[in-house]
Amino acid sequence: MTGSESGFIELDGVEKVFEVRRKTGFMKRERRQVRAVDSISFRVASGEMVGYIGPNGAGKSTTIKMLTGILTPSAGRVRVAGIDPSRDRIRLAHRIGVVFGQRTTLWWDLPLIDSYRLMHRMYRIPDARYRENLDRLVELLGLADLLDVPVRQLSLGQRMRGDIAAALLHDPEVLYLDEPTIGLDVVSKAKVREFLRELNAERGTTVLLTTHDLQDIEQLCKRVMVIDHGRLMYDGPLTGLHEAGESERTLVVDLERELPPIEAPAPARVVRVDGPRQWLAFPAAESAAPLVAGIAARYPLVDLSVREPDIEAVIAKMLHPREEKPGDTSRDAPGQAAGNTPGDAPNPPERATT
Ligand SMILES: Nc1ncnc2c1ncn2[C@@H]1O[C@H](COP(=O)(O)OP(=O)(O)OP(=O)(O)O)[C@@H](O)[C@H]1O
Ligand SMILES: [Mg+2]
Repeated sequence: MTGSESGFIELDGVEKVFEVRRKTGFMKRERRQVRAVDSISFRVASGEMVGYIGPNGAGKSTTIKMLTGILTPSAGRVRVAGIDPSRDRIRLAHRIGVVFGQRTTLWWDLPLIDSYRLMHRMYRIPDARYRENLDRLVELLGLADLLDVPVRQLSLGQRMRGDIAAALLHDPEVLYLDEPTIGLDVVSKAKVREFLRELNAERGTTVLLTTHDLQDIEQLCKRVMVIDHGRLMYDGPLTGLHEAGESERTLVVDLERELPPIEAPAPARVVRVDGPRQWLAFPAAESAAPLVAGIAARYPLVDLSVREPDIEAVIAKMLHPREEKPGDTSRDAPGQAAGNTPGDAPNPPERATT
């Protein structure tokens, strides 16, 4: 059963085109094609934990639905654990687990435990294994006090944990998560992330994670894929994303006293001064060491820290390199390119040195 290729996810030139009909007037309908997924190819090795991100409508959920067999690709080839999902959906179901954060797979009116009992039978999980998995998941996800509560009475975070357990009762080799932290508070998010990290590390479960919370990705995934308008825009290490997006890190230095802006070698430059504290932006891909050494040699340095770039800004810049949003000046200074704000510096650079 567990051949050498099991756990692999393979997509080759996969497309999904939806036919949509729109009412354009009285008795008038227009047929239109939506290319939700546009010749996507990638491969995920067994045991990997990969982030699959992109803006609304990018095609993420459509991809996941093709990986489960819910949707059939319009073109291309999909294999999950060597299985063609749309042809062999039932057989594949025993090997994969799915969590759609926006919807529950649990029975709404039944106590949580009843959903698990139903899955025990549906998936024909051997009794001993079911017991063992249930005990483990109940403990790890803190579900003990919730088992007798009807699903509709669970809070969002409780229900999500319940859904994650449901997806894993049958020991799937692959887990697809479509926005598993949506609407969760910080503590619940941390619990879910911790659980996923352990699942991946200890059981080697392959995880494909779709989320709009980029902290999920930063804390869990070494590799990330960015999709936009159905196309794969980036596939590589999370760190490389910063280079692709030409992002900048921020060096924050505390000087002994208030001084004119530090003269740093380009492209490093001071973007903000506040009393003895100065903020310098420099390319994220470069080491901070020479910059720090140069400053330390010429200025009375008391303390320093480096701030990582905001990954959301990096992605925005990557997807819309030249786009400036004239109407969206709520966060950025006028005239400043979206996504160019270094770190969390609240002051626009124009005012930095005044
Ligand atoms: N069943 C469908 N029929 C027609 N169009 C669809 C269908 N499902 C999705 N689409 C369209 O395909 C595109 C991709 O949708 P998809 O749900 O995959 O996006 P997504 O990346 O998951 O977005 P979000 O972040 O909002 O969840 C959208 O334009 C959407 O309107
Ligand atoms: Mg979606």
